[in-house]
Amino acid sequence: MAEKVVIAVICGTKREGRLSFNAAKWVAEQGRQLPDTEIIFVDPRDYDLPPDGAPEDGENQAYAEITKRADAFYVVTPEYNHSIPSSLKRLLDSEFGNYKHKPVATAGVSNGPWGGVRVCEALLPVYHTMWMVPVKPELYFPKVQDIFDEQGAMKPEFTEMQTKNVQNAYKELIWMARALKAGAAAQS
Ligand SMILES: Cc1cc2nc3c(=O)[nH]c(=O)nc-3n(C[C@H](O)[C@H](O)[C@H](O)COP(=O)(O)O)c2cc1C
Repeated sequence: MAEKVVIAVICGTKREGRLSFNAAKWVAEQGRQLPDTEIIFVDPRDYDLPPDGAPEDGENQAYAEITKRADAFYVVTPEYNHSIPSSLKRLLDSEFGNYKHKPVATAGVSNGPWGGVRVCEALLPVYHTMWMVPVKPELYFPKVQDIFDEQGAMKPEFTEMQTKNVQNAYKELIWMARALKAGAAAQS
């Protein structure tokens, strides 16, 4: 049996009526079907984080614990004004040491045709600054309102393509998580 990889799947927004929540839940569900993998779902509504993430403001212990346990992160986020939602940015703006040297996959979500490609690009310098390791391929949910039904389930016509894409992303994420963990252990 391979060593278990713990992946925190992060939903990028707290917005009332958020459609990207369906995408985040779906990505988490796909991860739960993989062997030797534990998925922790992160809903930013569940964490009352101190403002702006400065160390002197303290931390939310529950969220700090999740980032510590996670071997990898999967960010599923809408694009807001071609960039990063403030809820997501706040989640990334603390716990620096717990993100550092860990891989991150990204899925973009939008109600337009581009599927959040610009927020995926906007996140790259942030990950870089945090010493995280972004993996490809990115996943996109364009016209998200057409992909999920009223109950939040993915419509059958999208399942095959999106499942293939998310499985490829998870494969890379898990590969990189194991490689980085082994590399870190070899150096300690
Ligand atoms: C503050 C705000 C800014 C937005 N900016 C963009 C944008 O730059 N590009 C885009 O494609 N959609 C944009 N949208 C629309 C989102 O694509 C849409 O809300 C979609 O359902 C995904 O976000 P959600 O999870 O908030 O529902 C924006 C929505 C909000 C609330």
